[in-house]
Amino acid sequence: MSVPLIDGFGRVHRDLRISVTDRCNFRCTYCMPADGLDWLPREDLLTFEEIERIARLMVDHFGIDSIRLTGGEPTVRANLPVLVQKLAALDVDLALTTNGATLGLLADKLVAAGLRRINISLDSLRPERFEELTRRADLDRVLDGIDAALAAGLNPVKVNAVMMRGINDDEIVDFARFGRDKGVEVRFIEFMPLDADLSWSNDKVVTLDEIVTTVGEEFPLAPVERSNSPAAVWHYADGKGSFGVIASVTDAFCGSCDRVRLTAEGMFRNCLFAVDEHDLRELLRSGASDDEIADVISDVVKDKWAGHAINQVHFIRPGRSMSQIGG
Ligand code: GTP
Ligand code: 5AD
Ligand code: SF4
Repeated sequence: MSVPLIDGFGRVHRDLRISVTDRCNFRCTYCMPADGLDWLPREDLLTFEEIERIARLMVDHFGIDSIRLTGGEPTVRANLPVLVQKLAALDVDLALTTNGATLGLLADKLVAAGLRRINISLDSLRPERFEELTRRADLDRVLDGIDAALAAGLNPVKVNAVMMRGINDDEIVDFARFGRDKGVEVRFIEFMPLDADLSWSNDKVVTLDEIVTTVGEEFPLAPVERSNSPAAVWHYADGKGSFGVIASVTDAFCGSCDRVRLTAEGMFRNCLFAVDEHDLRELLRSGASDDEIADVISDVVKDKWAGHAINQVHFIRPGRSMSQIGG
């Protein structure tokens, strides 16, 4: 019998995001400093067996029903399909967020291991701009990766585009058209203050309202049904698919947040913006029982705050970048 993983505001947590590595084959400007980061030593990473143990105990003790693998870039972790196969055996909705560059090689293997859906990050459809943003000339590989994901039968394939004013906000309509033509759900994401080069400012946030107006002027939209998920979804009036907006800044979904995180080195976090982390690796490696680990997890979630407070005076930027926390 599982008990709900519930915080002091009554929010029940069912979604576990697991970072499998802090490494990445890209160097996105908003995520990594130009001279890179010091990667974690291999022995600091949780092994697949340790990850599986935490995942299984969270499913058994707390009824976690959704697990997403993230990074850094999860596909640079050797033998990722082996981990996918272990987690796919649990009774959860298993997903992966990736930069897409290696999917040409990996999509079929991930599907064979039991992956059903995928989110691919892509912030520009223009080769020179893509290279400026990622410091890699790999747009074609990512586009091929999206095709490979579709061909392998992953469904849905979602494309995440972080919109930044003066950087890529002139591509809103291009991204909408891309999603319609390819049959993928593009999700525009409001830029959050997590960037490694400290370039975030409020005026760089391209808002949900602006995005929806811009898309709607080009492609008429059907009325919206608002669901409980982070992305608000709009359907095109002509029936050619849909797009989403994740309004992490102007309409944060913290009020209905059901997420917890495990970093690549086994730190447990109750929020993307959490200031404290709790070391589960130490517990695992010192022989703690499942019940002892579950007690720590439950205490950490009880302490969760109401929300991230971006744009309020008491907002504290996390000391680590998105690639280290896990996307
Ligand atoms: P679906 O389950 O497919 O809707 O995906 P998702 O939105 O959970 O996952 P994805 O990894 O694609 O993340 C999309 C965006 O959501 C990221 O770029 C972040 O901007 C944002 N995001 C993810 N997790 C959190 C979180 O815990 N808090 C906040 N504020 N934003 C988050
Ligand atoms: N704001 C919003 N989204 C971000 N991501 C990375 N950094 C930020 C940020 N500062 C996105 C990536 C990826 C997802 C995991 O998080 O583009 O799609
Ligand atoms: Fe890598 Fe993703 Fe960070 Fe880009 S956003 S550097 S793809 S981890």
